[in-house]
Amino acid sequence: MPGSRGTGTVAVVGGAGAVGSSTAFALMDSGLVGEIVLVDVDEERAEGEAMDLDHGAFFTSPVRVRTGDYEDCWDADVVVVTAGASQEAGESRLELLERNAEIFADLIPKVTAEMDDDAVVLVVTNPVDVLSQVAWAVSDLPADRVIGSGTVLDTARFRHALSREFDIAPGNVHAYVIGEHGDSEVLVWSSANLGGVPLETYCDLRGVDDVADLRARVETEVRNAAYEIIERKGRTNYGVARSVTATVERILGDDDAILTVSTLVDGQHGLDGVYVSLPCVVNRGGVREVLEFDLSEDERQALDESAGVVRESVEKLDL
Ligand code: LAC
Repeated sequence: MPGSRGTGTVAVVGGAGAVGSSTAFALMDSGLVGEIVLVDVDEERAEGEAMDLDHGAFFTSPVRVRTGDYEDCWDADVVVVTAGASQEAGESRLELLERNAEIFADLIPKVTAEMDDDAVVLVVTNPVDVLSQVAWAVSDLPADRVIGSGTVLDTARFRHALSREFDIAPGNVHAYVIGEHGDSEVLVWSSANLGGVPLETYCDLRGVDDVADLRARVETEVRNAAYEIIERKGRTNYGVARSVTATVERILGDDDAILTVSTLVDGQHGLDGVYVSLPCVVNRGGVREVLEFDLSEDERQALDESAGVVRESVEKLDL
């Protein structure tokens, strides 16, 4: 609504980085946020980003962008954590683990020490599933309020690819990517549909004979998306920033929207005690509910293996 000021406060820890500042930029237009606080060890750069963004706020619904420190996170409604090293070309997300787990062990307790009881921490730093679990373990927060950006972006990439293949608006494509946000992620083909029409049926209608080829092509595109982007421009920032912004908006809007965020699974699909992405109902309280839905036997097994990859990394950290 033009002229009205959003009421939410969002702190972005790592706000001077490419993902943090792009997220702040995207959040400015949401209309739900009145204040964005950039927190970063590089205080000068954070100040520069905040000044630049704040000038741009003249053109958005009223929002203030400023810098702050860890204590400023205590009053935030949502704390987005993007701090840490990011992938270099050819590097997997899991290869960042040691460096970023150390940063998290130091940073998260400072961020969450006196945080409001109803605030939500949204971890974005990779490897996001393992680091969400680290954030939960080193904070005193309930798991439903510590969530990871997970495969929200991968799900968007999957829908985007199918939308292009079939010339159907992305909003009418329903399909999920679940599991680790990483090489082992699982594209759920068995329930993918276009406006309720199962994908296989739609392929029949459109005369697509080689469904296996289509699947292989889309799988490669989605799974390798970040590698392809990083090879060309050195990082990914806009896609992830938009997916994080959408997640923050669903939280602040108390939307009960379904998103594949990373969450501590508790018995779903036979998994327990590990952070991976599954479709979750997200609202002002974080994750309200994790949806359990039908998977093919192959998908269930792939999910099991994907959760195993995250679990193995978590165990190495000896939390
Ligand atoms: C990507 C980063 C966020 O997939 O992992 O773009």
